[in-house]
Amino acid sequence: MSICILGIESSCDDTAAAVVCDGYLLSNVVASQKVHEAYGGVVPELASRAHQQNIVPVVHEALRQAGVAKEDVSAIAFTRGPGLLGSLLVGVSFAKGMAAALGVPMIDVNHLSGHVLAHFIKEKGAEETKRPSFPFLCLLVSGGNSQIILVRAYNNMEILGQTIDDAAGESIDKCSKVMGLGYPGGPVIDKLARQGNPKAFTFSKPNIPGLDYSFSGLKTSFLYFLRDRVHESPDFIAHHQADLAASLEATVVDILMDKLRKAVKQYNLKDVALAGGVSANTGLRNAFHDHARRYGWNVYIPKFGYTTDNAAMIAITGYFKYQDKAFCPMEAPAYSRVSI
Ligand code: KG4
Repeated sequence: MSICILGIESSCDDTAAAVVCDGYLLSNVVASQKVHEAYGGVVPELASRAHQQNIVPVVHEALRQAGVAKEDVSAIAFTRGPGLLGSLLVGVSFAKGMAAALGVPMIDVNHLSGHVLAHFIKEKGAEETKRPSFPFLCLLVSGGNSQIILVRAYNNMEILGQTIDDAAGESIDKCSKVMGLGYPGGPVIDKLARQGNPKAFTFSKPNIPGLDYSFSGLKTSFLYFLRDRVHESPDFIAHHQADLAASLEATVVDILMDKLRKAVKQYNLKDVALAGGVSANTGLRNAFHDHARRYGWNVYIPKFGYTTDNAAMIAITGYFKYQDKAFCPMEAPAYSRVSI
C-alpha cells in the first residue's frame, strides 16, 4: 500500500498544500497573499485571515492535482513553527480537524528543517538530480532566517550559527524599501544589481565572533549613507539605483559566504547546500558556483519553487518522519519561535 502524506504550510504569508506519495511529489499548490504589498511587509492579522480563506481550496486542489482521495491519505504533516502564531494556528487547526475526521496520524514539521530537506524532493518522471550526502552544511537564508546548519541525517540537525538580529532577506527588503522599490525588495534588488557596479559603494560589515551573523549594522549604515547623499542631492537614489543594489547585494553575499567558508573549514566538509527564499538571488548563486570551482565544494541549490515557502518540503519531511513513526499528539500547540 502507498504511503501518501498531505503537507500543509501556513507559517507566514503563503498558504500551501502538497502531496508526497512513496517519496515522490505529486502536487504542490501555493496561494500567495498579495494583500501585504500595499503595506511594505507582512501584516500578521491580514495573513491569518487570508489563510482562513485559502486553506480549504488549496488543500482541495493539492489532493485533486495529485489524484489522491482524502481516504487514501496516510498522515497529515503540518508546519508547527517557527512563524507567525496567528498564521500557524490556521494550518495547525486545519491539520488537527482533518486528521481527526480521517482517523490518521499527524506529523509536526519544523519549518526550518523543511527548508533543508527540500533538497530531497523527488518529482516523478524528472531526471534524478544530485543530492547532498550526509553530513553536509546548509546555508538557510530567507526573509526571517539566516543560519548555517550541520545536517547529520534527516532527523539530526544542529544550528552552528545564526543571525543575532535581522535576517539577510529582511535586511535586503528593508534597504530596498528605503530606496522606494516596494515589497518584497529581494527580486527587484537582484534585477537592478545585474546592471550595477558591486564595488561602487562600501557598506559596513559586521565583526561577530564564531559562526553567527548580524545584518542590522548593514541596514543602518545603508540608511545613514543614503540620508547623507540624498541631503546633498535629492535625486541620488534615482541616479544610482543599480550601483546601490549591486553594492548592497555584494555586501550581503560577502557576509554570508565569509562565515560559510569558516564553517566548511572548521567541520572539514565539502557538501554545501543552499536553502530559503534568498537562494533565488543571482549574486549568491554565483558565489556558490565560484566557491565550488575555487575550493572544490560540491554545491546544491534547489529549484526556486522549493526554496521559498512551500508545502512540498513539509510533505517530504513528513514522509521521512512517517518512516520513523514520529507522530505528534492532537494537543500539540503551534510555536512561534524554536530551534531545529
Ligand atoms: O523563504 P521565503 O519565501 O520566506 C520568508 O522567510 O519570508 O523568503 C523570502 C525572502 C524575502 O526576503 C525576499 O526578498 C527574498 O527571499 N528573495 C530574494 C530574491 N527572491 C526572494 N532576495 C534576493 N534576491 C532574490 N532574487
